Amino acid sequence: MTVSDNFEIQSFCSIMSMIDKLSEISETKDCLTRRYLTPEHRQANDLVAAWMSDAGMTVREDFVGNIIGRYEGAQCGLPAVIIGSHLDTVVDAGRYDGMLGVATGIECIRSLNARNIRLSCALEVIGFADEEGARFQSTYLGSKALAGTFEASLLGRKDQDGISMSNAMKAFGLNPDRYKEAARIPDDVLAYLEVHIEQGPILEEEGLAAGIVTSIAGATRIRVTVEGNAGHAGTVPMDLRKDALVAAGECIITVEELACSNSPVVATVGEINVRPGAPNVIPGLVHFSVDLRAAEDVKRKELQKEIKRNFDRIAKTRGVGISSEIVHEAESVDCSPDIISRIENSMVAEGHKAFTLFSGAGHDAAAMASLTDVGMIFVRCKGGISHNPAESITAEDAITGAKILLNVLENFDA
Ligand code: GLV
Ligand code: MN
Ligand code: MN
Repeated sequence: MTVSDNFEIQSFCSIMSMIDKLSEISETKDCLTRRYLTPEHRQANDLVAAWMSDAGMTVREDFVGNIIGRYEGAQCGLPAVIIGSHLDTVVDAGRYDGMLGVATGIECIRSLNARNIRLSCALEVIGFADEEGARFQSTYLGSKALAGTFEASLLGRKDQDGISMSNAMKAFGLNPDRYKEAARIPDDVLAYLEVHIEQGPILEEEGLAAGIVTSIAGATRIRVTVEGNAGHAGTVPMDLRKDALVAAGECIITVEELACSNSPVVATVGEINVRPGAPNVIPGLVHFSVDLRAAEDVKRKELQKEIKRNFDRIAKTRGVGISSEIVHEAESVDCSPDIISRIENSMVAEGHKAFTLFSGAGHDAAAMASLTDVGMIFVRCKGGISHNPAESITAEDAITGAKILLNVLENFDA
């Protein structure tokens, strides 16, 4: 049996079983939800730390809760190629988003270690603490801290229970005053590589197991507040109402219409909160989110302005107050041409078509691009479904992604 066969058999079991084990760590019994700085984040870090150590890495947790395994190169202390993805999830998540990249990184190190291969660079695998922003609406937190772009103001963000990020960090055993120490020096990092499920239908349509990402969409997340007048559902005549929920409804339909007429920009309202939230009370206060994505930042920003103009119009005609706050903004990011061509070479060497595609989803790679050159390998997912418990990939495709990544790493030596 060749080394490659051995890697294949072991990794078949290992990558999928790591992902399955992580999927059991959830804040909720009936679905997978694992947010930043929760006891489940602690459990996931501990489990991943044990796997990293077993695969031959030295392990530490950094100052924002990222879990980091390091596999030294031919000498200790060489600059590192970082492999990573995130360990947090959205609410009611699929199991592969994020977890695939971490498990694949660990499996590649296990293979190198089993063959006593040391490269001319160090390798690190990182399980990022928060990419989705499900708890504090603060996406790319873990990778921003590493890249040195984590803003101090984030520490004051509160979750839905009013707990600040700073206090949550303390409860997790971190010192929030030291978050800057998670930042890495560019000279110590050669590149960042991330394997991720595609989260869209293109690879499946093309009949391909894997693809190379060319660029990652920019995104804006807005928190909108609509203030009307709460009142009795039975006594206030329709023409005297200032119903915050009906105004929010008009805003949401308008967001969809504007996005449809500004394709390929996409817009989503995914979260809404109605106060006081009773069947016999006219809604007085509504908060909702707007998430905008586009390959071209200018188009995203134009749509953002257009939405604001329309919200002002709706506020005027309905006599309600509508205000918006940008809670997250990330520009689109190009993957490094050098890393793209390294991945292309590895795909061809492994017998695959070097197919390139754009990422409409955000990834830690986007934040890492302000520190170093980044590259991403996408793995086909069933029906293009993601951010959904039905998210699914095959073990064969996972192994394809791992073999391509391993080939890229082994050739970084050259
Ligand atoms: C992360 O998955 C995002 O694109 O929101
Ligand atoms: Mn996601
Ligand atoms: Mn992800």
